[in-house]
Amino acid sequence: TPADPKPSLHVLLAGPRGFCAGVDRAIKIVEQAIGKFGAPVYVRHEIVHNKFVVQNLEAQGAIFVEELEEVPEDAPVVFSAHGVPKSVPAEARRRNMMYLDATCPLVSKVHREAERHEAAGRHILLIGHAGHPEVVGTLGQLPPDAVTLVETVEDVARIQPPERPLAFTTQTTLSVDDTAEIVAALKARFPDITGPGKEDICYATTNRQAAVKAIAARSDMVIVVGAPNSSNSVRLREVASRSGCPRAIMVQRGADLDPAEVDGVSILGLTAGASAPEILVEEVLTRLRERFTVTTEEVVVAVEDITFRVPPMQRPNR
Ligand code: F3S
Repeated sequence: TPADPKPSLHVLLAGPRGFCAGVDRAIKIVEQAIGKFGAPVYVRHEIVHNKFVVQNLEAQGAIFVEELEEVPEDAPVVFSAHGVPKSVPAEARRRNMMYLDATCPLVSKVHREAERHEAAGRHILLIGHAGHPEVVGTLGQLPPDAVTLVETVEDVARIQPPERPLAFTTQTTLSVDDTAEIVAALKARFPDITGPGKEDICYATTNRQAAVKAIAARSDMVIVVGAPNSSNSVRLREVASRSGCPRAIMVQRGADLDPAEVDGVSILGLTAGASAPEILVEEVLTRLRERFTVTTEEVVVAVEDITFRVPPMQRPNR
């Protein structure tokens, strides 16, 4: 047989990677809403932070908008997986609109937790990234003066919370390691603070970060399939570059990758954020096969069997 002229490339696939149960449920809610009510179904904000997913749903009849006021009163509207401030469903009810809430149940859990702290008279320190829709949604569960946002360890020294008992909650898609440092700093400054056992980072974020750590330690380069506005994907790239891997990049899909960028790499790590479908990982592998003889190995650090029930497609508020 003729010698294969292509250099070889060994790809370590992170297990788990890609879709989480909350993303899977959110996409199904939009698809089932289109099936039940017919197109168009409006979606407030990108249902999950992935262009491919959004375009796919648009092709089926979804219309994406940023604000509720862009939705006609007689059309169904779905709220994205990241969660929404309380004012959004309130406004939908006021306008007598039909809405479906695709907020991930693990985000809703944080919302309820925050409300319980508020009701118990505690001031809340929310660890998260300013401006991310999940943070906007969690802040919007509470009166504005009930929460202080904490983004960094430095913030812990800077903040001046009111003289009240304190509690903390977190965004679900943070860096596990950075958050542990922030929580330790909070507990050092406010020894009586109430909080969850560790933080509110979800199982999917935790497992994907553990898996990328495991492959990054063995890889010359790591590619994360994900979007720059996807918090958990951005964290995966950071975790990879802090875990002893010389180079970690993020691509949205196969076409974004110039395979020549991988020249000189013998072991490549590959993972995907919780909002990136497996088909985009396959695109990247196809792209790599144009230039390399690719062998793959799955490195599994956790097996996930979590699924979330899709709510019945009924008019919830009519
Ligand atoms: Fe939910 Fe975590 Fe996914 S909060 S949407 S399971 S990344």
